[in-house]
Amino acid sequence: EAGLHAIARAKGFTFGAAVQGGLLATDPSYAAAFEREAGLLVPEFEAKWSVLQPREGAFDFALLDAILDWGTPRGRPTRGHALVWHEAFPAWAREAVAEGPARARAVMAAHVARVLATTRLRIRDWDVVNEAVADAPGSDTPQAEGELRDTPFLRALGPSYIDTAFRLAREQDPTLRLVLNEYGVEEDTPWAEEKRRRLLSLVRGMVRRRVPIDAVGIQAHLQMLRPFSVPVFTGFVGALRAEGLSVIVTELDIREGPAVPEDEPARDQLVAERAAAFLEAAIAGGVRTFLTWGLVDRYSWLVTEPAVARRDGKRHRGLPLDGDYNRKAMWRAMARAF
Ligand code: XIL
Repeated sequence: EAGLHAIARAKGFTFGAAVQGGLLATDPSYAAAFEREAGLLVPEFEAKWSVLQPREGAFDFALLDAILDWGTPRGRPTRGHALVWHEAFPAWAREAVAEGPARARAVMAAHVARVLATTRLRIRDWDVVNEAVADAPGSDTPQAEGELRDTPFLRALGPSYIDTAFRLAREQDPTLRLVLNEYGVEEDTPWAEEKRRRLLSLVRGMVRRRVPIDAVGIQAHLQMLRPFSVPVFTGFVGALRAEGLSVIVTELDIREGPAVPEDEPARDQLVAERAAAFLEAAIAGGVRTFLTWGLVDRYSWLVTEPAVARRDGKRHRGLPLDGDYNRKAMWRAMARAF
């Protein structure tokens, strides 16, 4: 049976998923699942700063190249994630950026220039700045003050660090698609509403200042029992697109809430229902590209990452395929939505 890649493509959509290069090389079922399901790849960590430039000036593209070498002969493009992000940001860079604005700008410029110069013929689409907006009061991780997240580059350069990153990227290659990637703007909660407002105001300011931004990436790390409104999210996507930008969904997965049913089919059903509503809303708003953050539950960060894993021994089941690569209700909901 056709995979999500073919099903999506037949309807004019693109479906892809975050991939771990090591697993592509070592787990044949994992590689086969990506071959079947994913038309577009994004490295789950292989293009982050700490991997590409672990020490100043010492760039290492080996892990990223391994993914590109797998995808290219199979006709599966890879998008880049992420040039400027406060996480996976090595201590040397944090310290250098803290030395002052001139040094901070030089460190950013050197990273953006070298990464894009090296990859520009193979990676055409980049998350230039990731998670720049601060979480609002009421969320799990509220920030004390400011609409922008407190990061090393914000401290050194002020809010213009975001514009600077995009301008540096555009300078390196005017034909790349430059994306501002953000999370926490999907659900129908007061703190997501506030974060939508902050993101929209950031984007509008960038457009007004003629910053070279092409698209907004919506991560979509959702929680199945949180309030979600189709018209609200559709309207938000429409407001972003009204600024002349594309909107893509970059990291979809659906974690469980605090009170979930015991049995697996019921949990899978709730995940599928949320996936269906979210895709309906995004598609109505004009999203054409969707990526999930992984494909199989077994290797999902929702399972492997202590900060987001369940603490009661149960495992999140937030991706289209279960631990044994079987298609779940979420897979079928996505296949129907395209
Ligand atoms: C996550 C990876 O999945 C984990 O394996 C890693 O330990 C931490 O980063 N938003 C992002 C991604 O933009 O880069 C994050 O990926 C998940 C949240």
